[in-house]
Amino acid sequence: SSTAHKTETGDLVVGGVPVADLVAEHNTPAYVLDEADFRARARAFRDAFSDFDVYYAGKAFLCTAVARWVQEEGLCLDVCSAGELTVALRAGFDPARIGYHGNNKSVAELRRAVAEGVGRIIVDSVQEIDRLAMVVQDTGLTARVMVRVTAGVEAHTHEYIATAHEDQKFGFSITSGDAFEAVRRITETPGIELLGLHSHIGSQIFDSSGFEVAARRVLALHARVSDELAVTMPEMDLGGGFGIAYTTQDDPSDPAQLATEMGKIVEHECRALGVAEPRLSIEPGRAIVGPAMCTVYTVGTVKPVALDAGAVRTYVSVDGGMSDNIRTALYDADYSCTLANRRSEAPPVLARVVGKHCEAGDIVVRDEFLPGDVAPGDLVAVPGTGAYCRSMASNYNHALRPPVIAVRDGQARVLVRRETEDDLLATDLG
Ligand code: LLP
Repeated sequence: SSTAHKTETGDLVVGGVPVADLVAEHNTPAYVLDEADFRARARAFRDAFSDFDVYYAGKAFLCTAVARWVQEEGLCLDVCSAGELTVALRAGFDPARIGYHGNNKSVAELRRAVAEGVGRIIVDSVQEIDRLAMVVQDTGLTARVMVRVTAGVEAHTHEYIATAHEDQKFGFSITSGDAFEAVRRITETPGIELLGLHSHIGSQIFDSSGFEVAARRVLALHARVSDELAVTMPEMDLGGGFGIAYTTQDDPSDPAQLATEMGKIVEHECRALGVAEPRLSIEPGRAIVGPAMCTVYTVGTVKPVALDAGAVRTYVSVDGGMSDNIRTALYDADYSCTLANRRSEAPPVLARVVGKHCEAGDIVVRDEFLPGDVAPGDLVAVPGTGAYCRSMASNYNHALRPPVIAVRDGQARVLVRRETEDDLLATDLG
């Protein structure tokens, strides 16, 4: 559903706006967000998962405008920090449609979430249950919670491994019995209403069998709670993690297919277990915003470097880098890129797009063929940077974080402005 295309002259156009025009006005680096594409992906999830609640995971990317779009498209919102909650509330997001995550929420955060009327708090430790018990007792308010469980599935990019999964900070283990005990504790706590179990198995997952295994294990616990505690939990969340194509080798997730598969498994298991089907929810982040954004850079230097056996790698330095996209350095993520401002017939060269930070790992696109005449002043666009790029951007080397510019129907609007040196100096008290 992307609106991006290249004209005959090689100019990249997104949302009806030539990227070169955006750059002339707003400079680079810049994130360009295709509003129609974002909304279409949000809608696709909402429509495919019509029996589910779909929570957009704001950690992938959130700003006030995006929170509004999410609400307008009929999705709920997953936040995992006080900051994300603040942005959502500022956007006028209905707190009842917000889920609040985190493995280390403070008493103050819990107090605020309850006071704001957040629809569900996903609890992640015994201490948190006790803190929440205090908060509801103090305030006389009710908290609605889900219990984050470890389903025993560790999802990696292209596989899942059913071992070594217990050894991480999130959730209550199902196998150890901790999850059941957490549920019991909640049912014994006045003022805390138990909505259901929550499982999130990982991110950038392509193989739906991970979700299937997780759903089975979580439903087994769901049924045990119903049998042994006589508590019917009305809901269940199966988390996010649906993979997107970063390169042509990846197959993007198909929401409709996922919805059918997940719905079937749950229906089948519930029948087998003799329990009523809980209302399901999911939390996609990357699959909604990832493909909807690209980053545009200006080429600064081009340096051919001789490799072994006479090969050459062309290092193309751009005016951003690991401060606006840490994913290549941090996860060895694959990106591609394209020349965005002209057409070139020059024979392609093996290029590596690097940033301007002071370390060798500052790589944006590890391997890409670019026209051999790529030169200073050219624009390079990196697609698929919507998820976990702006949201994980830093001020490393006192870089100024780039703006997010929404484009739609030939119009551009700055959603998040570029940082200035005054912004940097504002927190430095001298
Ligand atoms: N729900 C929960 C509880 C999560 O922890 C996450 C992601 C999501 C939903 C959304 O997952 P998504 O659909 O976006 O895959 N920084 C990493 C990804 C970290 C994901 C953390 N949790 C990256 O850049 O790949």
